[in-house]
Amino acid sequence: MADDPEDLPHFNLFSEEFSRCPQAVYREMRAACPVTRAAITESLVLSRYEDVAWALRHPEIFSSAMDLQVALGTERPMIPQQIDPPAQTRYRKLLDPHFSRRKMEALIPSIRANANALIDTFIDAGECEFDEAFAIPLPCTAFLDLLGLPQEDLALFLELKDGIIRPQKAQPDLDFEGAQRVRVESGRRIYRYFERIIEERLREKTPREDLLSSILSAEIDGEKLISTEILDICFLLLLAGLDTVTATLGCNIAYLAANPDQRRRILEHPELLPGAVEELMRWETPVTAVPRLVKREVEVGGTVIAEGELVTLLIGAANTDESHFPEADRVDFERERNIHMAFGAGPHRCLGSHLARMELCAAMEEWHRRIPEYHIKSGETPRYSPGIREVLYLPLVWER
Ligand code: HEM
Repeated sequence: MADDPEDLPHFNLFSEEFSRCPQAVYREMRAACPVTRAAITESLVLSRYEDVAWALRHPEIFSSAMDLQVALGTERPMIPQQIDPPAQTRYRKLLDPHFSRRKMEALIPSIRANANALIDTFIDAGECEFDEAFAIPLPCTAFLDLLGLPQEDLALFLELKDGIIRPQKAQPDLDFEGAQRVRVESGRRIYRYFERIIEERLREKTPREDLLSSILSAEIDGEKLISTEILDICFLLLLAGLDTVTATLGCNIAYLAANPDQRRRILEHPELLPGAVEELMRWETPVTAVPRLVKREVEVGGTVIAEGELVTLLIGAANTDESHFPEADRVDFERERNIHMAFGAGPHRCLGSHLARMELCAAMEEWHRRIPEYHIKSGETPRYSPGIREVLYLPLVWER
């Protein structure tokens, strides 16, 4: 007998408490039943590894083409994240080679240099608020390098990104409508910024050797992309490539600050760092979930999900599922076959995963080389944001 979706248990995935320590709630959700409901949004939630992996690999049922535009200040669907295959596949074929491991490796020296330049600004103080001082600016400088945009635009980019993702940061008193207005305005400014840059590039006689120039000259079936397609790709890269790395860096360093034995293992065995980055991505899963729209009725573990339902695929819960990961609750930097889904799975799997891994490894290596012994300032508690788990407040101290 199928369960009635009206009677499913509700879980709050938007509280700060959940965001700080979601693993216990994940366990409850997986145990409760294969399908639950999210409080506030009322979307259905899949939390078991097998179900989430299956849904991610069936975009013809679980579609990414949904009307989230208003919430993100965009005017059209972002490419390729908000469109389904086969149209999405054509864009991925064009973009994938530009994000290959080999291409991304070329960015490592500047990521290291930028990490050190940031550390130089606060190391002598013996303390910093990690998010503001390091985790936010570092991915933004890498993004500007990647696209070939001037580093002088860093402050502008941070302002525009916050305007979309956290409008209340600059204006804490904003109500829902006010926040929405800031999002739409920031969205417009992002479009105008890229329109201007694209026009400038098209006027240049010799193409530059950066990602933006490559996208401008790229072709699908012998045709160049039109300017709105380029804008919709750039908009997504900006939103997808900044907060995700910021959040992951924050979650990783917060974990290591609170677990000195694990931190010492990395210091004593630096070769464990790539495995640690991977395992912390699994355990922390900073991008906890991705949304999908159900295109046709489907049954998951005995619950019938109707066409038109919004479904949250809780990848954080899937990544801590005992039925897939032996001793899932143990954070093991030497875990074998760590096939987590922190970068998603299926056709929409993260385009920037090589870049993200390199940024994380380079940043964490440089940080631990310069500041090996650190801890959370006494009497303080880190503060996590709901949604993407950015550690908004992470006060760290170390010996000068
Ligand atoms: C640790 C950092 C990152 C994490 C955890 C992460 C996570 C994810 C996840 C879970 C998805 C799948 C979304 C879905 O299925 O709907 C995704 C897609 C995507 N990511 Fe990342 N991401 C990270 C960094 C980056 C970076 C640095 C970039 C580029 C500069 C990037 C660009 C993208 C794009 C373009 C997509 C959409 C791909 C598609 O729809 O075909 N990401 N990412």
